[in-house]
Amino acid sequence: MTEVIRSAASLREKVSAWKRSGMLVGVVPTMGALHDGHLSLARAARAQSDRVIVTIFVNPMQFNNPEDLKKYPRDEAHDLALLEAEGVDVLFAPGPEEVYPEGFATKVSVAGVSGPMEGAFRPGHFDGVATVVTKLFGMTQAGRAFFGEKDWQQVQVVERLVRDLNIPIRIIPCPTIREADGLAMSSRNVRLTAEERALAPALHGAMQGAAAAIRGGAPVEAALGEARAAVLAAGFSGVEYLDLRDAETLEVATALDRPARLLAAAVLGEVRLIDNIAV
Ligand code: PAF
Repeated sequence: MTEVIRSAASLREKVSAWKRSGMLVGVVPTMGALHDGHLSLARAARAQSDRVIVTIFVNPMQFNNPEDLKKYPRDEAHDLALLEAEGVDVLFAPGPEEVYPEGFATKVSVAGVSGPMEGAFRPGHFDGVATVVTKLFGMTQAGRAFFGEKDWQQVQVVERLVRDLNIPIRIIPCPTIREADGLAMSSRNVRLTAEERALAPALHGAMQGAAAAIRGGAPVEAALGEARAAVLAAGFSGVEYLDLRDAETLEVATALDRPARLLAAAVLGEVRLIDNIAV
């Protein structure tokens, strides 16, 4: 039975009791609209912790576009049923006034890794993520937190934040879960029309093509240019970025002399899709 908790004080009581009996607590922070990607995080948390908390909070502070916030899919009853089936102990689903009570005045900002790509196209997004994640770590007092590599840049931001602020939690990145045709699972995918859904895997396909070309020795810029053109030719209306970056610092990479990642964001209809793969 998954217990639903909405107040930080009740959660603290519960977690303190767990920790007094020596239990390791794992947390999976989410914004709900759960899919198999989230459930794989819950399973990893279940396997690597004694007690598992999944948080659901659609964080207004990380949405730079009010329309996107309004349209963000929400179905707590369905999410709860999925979490029950995974044996999650607690669903922590605070309201906005619990997370940002009147007078709230703090912002956590991670320089460097927050800057490019998502940071450039969604100004303020990572300040919102860093602030809420810091709060969720404080509220849950978890010892491990599980994040999907689908949001690779977010993982780098959270790792930096935890190191910089000495937050006693271990970040466990977990592999991206994909549909059979390669599309990375995302809560936003439900907003694709049937026709767009059929086109969507072209993003991952083009990225795989570029990664193979770069590994095979093709000049990086040429391979990236071809991939951007392929995404547009497939029917996407725009490619915000499709870059090769240092996997950890996220600085632009021009050669494969250190671990590199291909990261992309592209717009299909009204939906913005992101993806990333190792090169
Ligand atoms: O990845 C997400 O769903 C969100 O950015 C997170 C980490 C739950 C913070 O709101």
